[in-house]
Amino acid sequence: MPKAKPSVAARFNQNIKTVQPTGIREFDAQCSAIPDIIKLTIGEPDFNVPDAMKQAAIDAINNNDSHYAPAVGSEKMRLAASHFLKDRYGLDYDPDSEIAITIGASEGIFTALGGYTNPGDVVLIPTPTFPMYMAITQFFGGQAVELDTSADDFILTPAKLQAALDQYGDRVKALVLNYPSNPTGVSYSAEQIKALADVLKGTDVLVIADEIYSELVYDGKHTSIAKYIPEQTIVLNGVSKSSAMTGYRIGVLAGPAQLVKPVFLAHSLDVTAAADPSMAAAAAGMDTPAGREATAKMRDEYKRRRDFLAPALQKLGFGLTKPVGAFYIFAKIPANQNQDDVAFATALAKEAHVATTPGSFFGAGGKGYLRISYAASMANIKESVQRITAFLQK
Ligand SMILES: Cc1ncc(COP(=O)(O)O)c(C=O)c1O
Repeated sequence: MPKAKPSVAARFNQNIKTVQPTGIREFDAQCSAIPDIIKLTIGEPDFNVPDAMKQAAIDAINNNDSHYAPAVGSEKMRLAASHFLKDRYGLDYDPDSEIAITIGASEGIFTALGGYTNPGDVVLIPTPTFPMYMAITQFFGGQAVELDTSADDFILTPAKLQAALDQYGDRVKALVLNYPSNPTGVSYSAEQIKALADVLKGTDVLVIADEIYSELVYDGKHTSIAKYIPEQTIVLNGVSKSSAMTGYRIGVLAGPAQLVKPVFLAHSLDVTAAADPSMAAAAAGMDTPAGREATAKMRDEYKRRRDFLAPALQKLGFGLTKPVGAFYIFAKIPANQNQDDVAFATALAKEAHVATTPGSFFGAGGKGYLRISYAASMANIKESVQRITAFLQK
């Protein structure tokens, strides 16, 4: 008898097999099929790309900027990113050796983890979190260790970080920090971030700081952890959220030349280079008066929505940890309701036609919560509050 051939699935990369789908997309697709649904599930701006950025892309196309850019990105975009990081956050990066332009922050996460993760390495990830960090760590054979922050207002405390460093010792390769946070909307004050930096300083732990929402902070000021421990930090930023340019796929990765070496290599192997017209548009978004004005306008509008939605949810009995940034509220389901977040979100979608994302999809500490996105029109947000009110009164 000829030997049976192994199935195609048996030949997959072993690490891919360990990556668990989060359920976010599937749940969103189920909700989308409900007629008249209002979707507060969305993780991207509901604004169009501002005109000045569109024009910059059109000009680039008309100028035949249609060739391979340098692997690290066009000079103009690297300069724009360097100015942006300096003006907005006081960070110094040499555009020639310390900045790469990625395909969205997503590719920055992938290549940063890819440049550093060996099989068995531990990557610390405060949760609830954007689930991609866990999946990518597993893809590279690392162990994603979730640090549940739900008992501490979704802030990683220095004590919890120290305990994880003590527990995993030399196996800890990196800490992924995302703030303002998807999904909680919570961020770190300068004091809180310095306290974490103090724990990490002098260790070999790499910090991958996903600061993609840094321009969307409504109370206080964003402070990058790279201000305190630049020598061990890779900063990720971009224009997807700040300039509503998710579809242009441009991100920024910055770090000391020595530190980013393997990451730049991984980036060039992965994508060769970002697209020229997209980089032209992103440079206009990050480093022109029109671009920064457009960001400020969108920020004001998100703040207006947050200021309406957060107290309205609180009045309905949801528990809130004050959301200071991004465009999410992570709301604890009222105590008198079903605490199973998937069941609650399903009922809310089916019966009230309001779609939210179950908190448990975002890792440890998310059970019993909903992620509610206010990247939706004010009219839809107001209508949602009415529908949720009626749903809770049933
Ligand atoms: C925390 C976080 N990082 C990265 C991304 C991806 O950003 P980009 O579209 O620039 O790849 C998202 C998108 O939702 C996000 O929420």
